[in-house]
Amino acid sequence: MAERPVAQGPASPGRPLWLLAELTYRCPLQCSYCSNPLDFAAQHNELSTDEWIDAMRQARAMGAVQLGFSGGEPLVRQDLETLVTEARKLGFYTNLITSALGLNETRIGALREAGLDHIQISLQAGDADVAAAVAGSPKAHAKKLAMARAVKAAGYPMVLNVVLHRHNIDDIDAIIALCDDLGADAVELANCQLYGWAHLNRTGLLPSREQLEAAEATTQRWREALAVRGRDMRLLFVVPDYYAERPKACMGGWGAIFMTVAPDGTVLPCHSARILPMTFPSVREQSLETIWYESFAFNRFRGDAWMPSPCRDCDERHQDFGGCRCQAYLLTGDPTATDPVCALSPDHSLIEATREEAAADRRSAHELTPRNTHESKVFCRA
Ligand code: SF4
Ligand code: FES
Repeated sequence: MAERPVAQGPASPGRPLWLLAELTYRCPLQCSYCSNPLDFAAQHNELSTDEWIDAMRQARAMGAVQLGFSGGEPLVRQDLETLVTEARKLGFYTNLITSALGLNETRIGALREAGLDHIQISLQAGDADVAAAVAGSPKAHAKKLAMARAVKAAGYPMVLNVVLHRHNIDDIDAIIALCDDLGADAVELANCQLYGWAHLNRTGLLPSREQLEAAEATTQRWREALAVRGRDMRLLFVVPDYYAERPKACMGGWGAIFMTVAPDGTVLPCHSARILPMTFPSVREQSLETIWYESFAFNRFRGDAWMPSPCRDCDERHQDFGGCRCQAYLLTGDPTATDPVCALSPDHSLIEATREEAAADRRSAHELTPRNTHESKVFCRA
């Protein structure tokens, strides 16, 4: 039977503001917290340069203003500079989200010439050994540091993103000191979101409450010290969902402001949505406008008509939209369920059980399951 849109609640769609262009799932690293799909190596059919330019043009015509180039590792695409040039011509504010592997001074210069506005580099840790264990590469850490310095030397505003988990969170003091030394303008200290490979490794990644509280206190001390020095380096500390009482308003709401185009042209309301048991449209088959406004997939969780109890009658349903659909599905097998992160969810005990399992999980960073090493390497040579 054909899938049909559900009735919409009060939130009929506005225009998309954000386009995330996931240019490729290829990546030289094998991070055990990667949020890419577990079967990423099956996605070989990447959009061509012309197809990406057409998708960007459509998104801009619909009103999108921000464009993130991400992956996998977007620098694997040798046409990245061409895409940035076109994006700037279209009037996007452009951001590159990268591991910095594949970056060098020549490419930094070319991206600057192309008009790239902003670079975000991910760091795995302050300590080279932990970074190597998590990313599966002994050389990546030193390369990242060198490229962070080169990015600043080229005059870019730079955000450093450090994914926190139990194996690096105790080093947060050294991590922030390193970011300060590298000249970061902002640092996202983002506790790992447990999707994709990170969900597979979740009990080996989730920090304890004590670790979290200590890390937050250290971050606050750094904020105060930076203010005294007059150093403008914003520190954003993102608490893991599994210690929250209420879920995040994921993506600002399903199909509300955000649109991801995956490497093969599949259009998603968030980067994880292809795990859900539903079909998503492709920009190869339909216009972005049709997908955004009319597709079953983008209308499926808009508004509040789809919500089960307790969200249906909850005063907070227009603030958090019932939480994250991907997280609800990963934990309960039901994409319409209230996000179990919510203390009011009938499935909240799943979160408590995961915290208990995590407390008993003694695996080192070396023992976590890396993002599929063999297929990743094969694919990266493609
Ligand atoms: Fe949000 Fe639903 Fe929890 Fe209410 S019951 S706070 S709407 S997730
Ligand atoms: Fe998909 Fe939250 S990550 S809806």
